[in-house]
Formats: sequence, structure tokens, C-alpha cells
Amino acid sequence: MMNTPLATSRLLLLVAACMAVSCSNREPAGASPSDAAAAAADPLALAVPSDLDPDPNVLHVRLEAKEGSFRYSDGQATPVWTFGETIPGPLLDAKVGDRVIIDFTNRLPEPTTIHWHGIRLPAAMDGSVAMQDPIPPGASFRYEFTLKDAGLFWYHPHVRSDVQVQKGLYGAFRVRGAGEPVVDEERVVVLDDVRLKDDGTLSEYLDDTTKMMGREGNTFLLNGVANAALPVQAGSLVRLRLVNVANGRFFNLRLPGHTWRVIGTDGGLIEQPYDTEKLLISPGERYDVLLVPTGAPGDSLDLVNEPYERGHETGNAPAVTVARVVFRPDAALTGRALPSTTRTVPAIDAASITIPLVLNEGVQNGELAFTVNGAVYPQVPMVSVPLGQSRLLDITNESEMDHPFHLHGFFFQALEQNGVALPLARMGNKDTIIVPAKARLKLVSTFDEPGMWMYHCHILEHAEGGMMGEIHVE
Ligand code: C2O
Ligand code: CU
Repeated sequence: MMNTPLATSRLLLLVAACMAVSCSNREPAGASPSDAAAAAADPLALAVPSDLDPDPNVLHVRLEAKEGSFRYSDGQATPVWTFGETIPGPLLDAKVGDRVIIDFTNRLPEPTTIHWHGIRLPAAMDGSVAMQDPIPPGASFRYEFTLKDAGLFWYHPHVRSDVQVQKGLYGAFRVRGAGEPVVDEERVVVLDDVRLKDDGTLSEYLDDTTKMMGREGNTFLLNGVANAALPVQAGSLVRLRLVNVANGRFFNLRLPGHTWRVIGTDGGLIEQPYDTEKLLISPGERYDVLLVPTGAPGDSLDLVNEPYERGHETGNAPAVTVARVVFRPDAALTGRALPSTTRTVPAIDAASITIPLVLNEGVQNGELAFTVNGAVYPQVPMVSVPLGQSRLLDITNESEMDHPFHLHGFFFQALEQNGVALPLARMGNKDTIIVPAKARLKLVSTFDEPGMWMYHCHILEHAEGGMMGEIHVE
């Protein structure tokens, strides 16, 4: 059992500590009584930023990255870095076509940027070091772009991301679009894990094994809450929008007695929803699922992380409870059916030119290195693509473990794995995908936005360890 025996509450340091297991206060310092009541009612509620622009088609928020202190549970306070007052940072909520303005200030002791993972935007707004000088401590930067796609996206720094994301800098970004299912309840679920030491501080320990597996934690977090209880009403139609922001942890979620109906992936709804018992989500990926929870009012179910073999015998790990699903006392609803939500996802134009990418790991100059085509970033040769053209990304993973491959700025579609066709109707538009150990995956993407775009493994220790490259579009 890896999880520490912590109770379910989660508070900012300034709020009085709460010892009861059922306690669920979650008010930020200075919150109004109504905020506090709402937070107490829903321990997993995400912070909502104030929109400085009254125009319903503009989301204008201020965001600050800063050092702080946070309670993931009833345990000790942990020194963290946060966007705003909470972990996760505020949920940014907008719709397709909206203009988004984020006035960001860096109050960290080191440079940073914000990358808007999965959002198609101008390269100058992408927050990657290929396009933006890191924002020094004390400085500000305005990110501004128009939302093109519906889906659940997320944001995180792109400087020393293995450290900065681990310390708490991440948040979800929900973009609504047409044709979304009508449900009783929708919830954004941000999955993470942290390694807490006995004194409550985050472990910074990093040896070669940790680097190899990505830093995995001993404490699972749902929306920043350890030992979370996710409230549901029996018989209701629940939509969960999940994102895995962990450095290295793969989540493989099972809810006993239930199946997940997958209705969407990274880039929004898919054409052909399907059912799965285990929902595998690698770092960076998102899944949009529906569920009709069955149980008696007051009951609870364990949300279990099942072992998944991603290399180095990870498949032998025991199943672990990451949270509980708790039935509210309300009477069960009836008659909810899982809709077969569909939208058409047009196929991306075929490509006649291939970009071969070989992912591997090994020792270079006495150090564990993660490579693309044999080189460590920034030595990885840049690839050029004329604006508007499609390319086939032919990815071979020669290593002994899975790598979640992420492309900035564009969706891709997965065509085949090890020669077997992958169904677009189920895969949808993706920006992050597992390239299994020793596997070969073919993806296609159209590079229709100019600039320098990064791709990398989303195990952050691998990205920072060299498994990263650039595609120049002009
Ligand atoms: Cu979420 Cu370049 O990453
Ligand atoms: Cu990797």
C-alpha cells in the first residue's frame, strides 16, 4: 500500500486545521462565507477565477505563480508553488470562439512560462522555450488567444517542468462547444500524485530509477485532495472529465461494478463512444467519460488504480485505492441512459512525407539520457515543414518502457500501431498518446500554424532529460 493514511480534508495553511476524517473544508484565505459553504459542500470543487471582462465572449483573468504552503490532507503543510491560491490552479472555463486574456505574473524565485497544453493557438502564446524567453521573477506576460476547439485542456509551466509541475503548478482549462451531452452532473477531475516525506515536504530525491520511471508519488490527489471522496448521486448521469497531470504516474482507473463510457479524448468528443472497464490515462492525456453510478445512498466504492505494465515490471504493482466514490444521501435517480453522443471528426489529410522519430533511453557521458533519433534535446535536429502541409509522424519506441508522446500546437490522429489500423472513430483528435515499449506508432498531423513547435515525452523527467524536439513550420 503506497498511499499514506491521510484523511480527506485539504486546506490552505491559513485556514484552521481540521482533524475529523469527514471534514472537507477547502476555503482559500479570505473567501466569503458563501464560498466557504460551497467549498464545504464540495471538497473537490476547483477554484474559479474572476473574469475581468464583462463581455461573455472574453475571458480575462489574472494569474500569479508563487510560493506558498498547502495542505493536501489533514497532514502537515507542504511548501508548494501555486497558480493563485489553490492546487490545482483555477479552472479556466470558456467556450469555442472566446477570446482569452491571461495576465500572468511570475512571483516564483526562478523563471517560468505557461504552456496551454492541447490548445491550438499562435506559437508566440504557446509558452514553450522554443518561442518564448522564460519570464523572469517579478515580470509579467500577457497570454492572449482565441479558442478554436472544445475539450478539456490544461496549463503548466514549460521551464524545468519536472520540478515546477511537481511543486503544484498546473490547472485545467475547459472549453465548451456544440453538441455536448446533457448530464445530471459534470466534474473536472485532475489526477496527480506527490511524494510526501514524513515532515510534509515534497521529496526532491531523484536517482536514475526515479528519472527512468518519472517521479511517482506516495499520495494520490484528485483535484489536489489526498484520499478524496467524490460525491455522486445514485442513478444519476455523471460526466467526468479527467486529466493526468502527474510527472510519471499512469492512471489505470477501475470502479468496481461499473464501466466507463468514453465519449471524448484530448481534442474533444469522439465519433463512436465505447465502454471500458479500465481507463488508462498517461501523463498529459485527457479522457471524457460518462457513468451511471449504482449504489445505495450513503455507500461508497473504491476508485482503484489497477497495475499497468509500462515497462520495468510496473505491471506487478498491487492495485491501489486512489479515492472513493461516495453516494449522497439523496434518493437514487432512475431512467438515465448512457447516450451514444457522436460528432463527426473529419480525418486529417493524408501525408506523403514522413518524419521518423526514434525514442530511446541510454547512458550518454555517464548520465541517464532520453533521446530522439539518438540525440538529447537541444541537440535533436529540428524538422521543417512548409505551412499547411501534413506529415506522417512515424514513431518507433526502441526503449523498454512506454513514452507518452505530446505534440504542441496541433492535434494528430493515430493511424496505426505495429501495422494494425487504429479506429479514428474511437481515438478522436489527440495531442498526447502512449507509444508502448518496443512499439511503432504512426500519427498524422497538418501543420497549419507557423512557428516553432515542440514535441516531447510527457513523462516530465524524460522531457527534461532530453526526449524532446522541435518542428519548425513556415
Ligand atoms: Cu503538457 Cu510540452 O507539454
Ligand atoms: Cu518518456
